[in-house]
Amino acid sequence: MKYNIIIIGDVMNDNKLPIHVGIIMDGNGRWAQKRGFSRSVGHKMGAKNLKKLLKHIYKRNIKIVSIYAFSTENFKRDKNEVEYLMDLSIKFFTNELKTFMKENIKVLFSGRKDNLRVDVINAMNELEENTKNNNNGILNICFNYGGRLEIIDAIKKIASKINNNDITFDDITEDLVSENMYQTLPPLDFVIRTSGELRTSNFMIWESSYAEYYFPNTLFPDFDTKEFDKAIEEFQKRNRRFGGITNEDKSV
Ligand code: IPE
Ligand code: IPE
Ligand code: MG
Repeated sequence: MKYNIIIIGDVMNDNKLPIHVGIIMDGNGRWAQKRGFSRSVGHKMGAKNLKKLLKHIYKRNIKIVSIYAFSTENFKRDKNEVEYLMDLSIKFFTNELKTFMKENIKVLFSGRKDNLRVDVINAMNELEENTKNNNNGILNICFNYGGRLEIIDAIKKIASKINNNDITFDDITEDLVSENMYQTLPPLDFVIRTSGELRTSNFMIWESSYAEYYFPNTLFPDFDTKEFDKAIEEFQKRNRRFGGITNEDKSV
């Protein structure tokens, strides 16, 4: 399958670094509540942490990062919290443009845009448009994103191609489905979910079928560059088999 990436340099290197890392940024609310602050303070600190973390991640030569910023299910939250998250996101998308340009990072958005506020959609479109020719790394922001919804959207795209006689039933393969997801990025190698919750909460379920998972107890605002390096060390120790066996297993 052909992936839609134009990246400078070697993507897979000798240190067994993941090419594509996903981060489920969880625990902002608990971080704030533990300190007697409102949940919004936690989100603000989470965003502050994200800026530092991304800088560090790309510096470590990890080329593709997908972050879970807002799920379709997060609309179930109190209206004030949702509005705060939308305002904070606009600020992040707008203020970080200069950093993404400086670091040469292309920003993509995964998720549905249709039921978002117009000012949010505008900020997303602007960031995507302005960074579209950057090629030192990719940031895929999952925003108003649901993994099952992404699969439904892919099924709809494929069904309509069959309807138009562009493809036939027999053309449906794993590659074809992957090509019809929101992005054509390589699959996730490593997924980190902070805050100690042991679930994926609908994050990139198609793309993470063979990802390694890591669940630190640290709440996202505290998940700093040191914690990230520890996570990568753990990833490097994993024996990825993809259903087969590796040299390490061949003792019998
Ligand atoms: C993650 O932190 C941010 C979003 C889901 C938008 P939470 O807000 O879920 O924080 P907790 O899990 O309640 O602590
Ligand atoms: C997952 O966290 C979504 C994001 C981090 C954006 P949630 O806090 O929404 O997940 P649940 O509700 O604990 O499963
Ligand atoms: Mg949460």
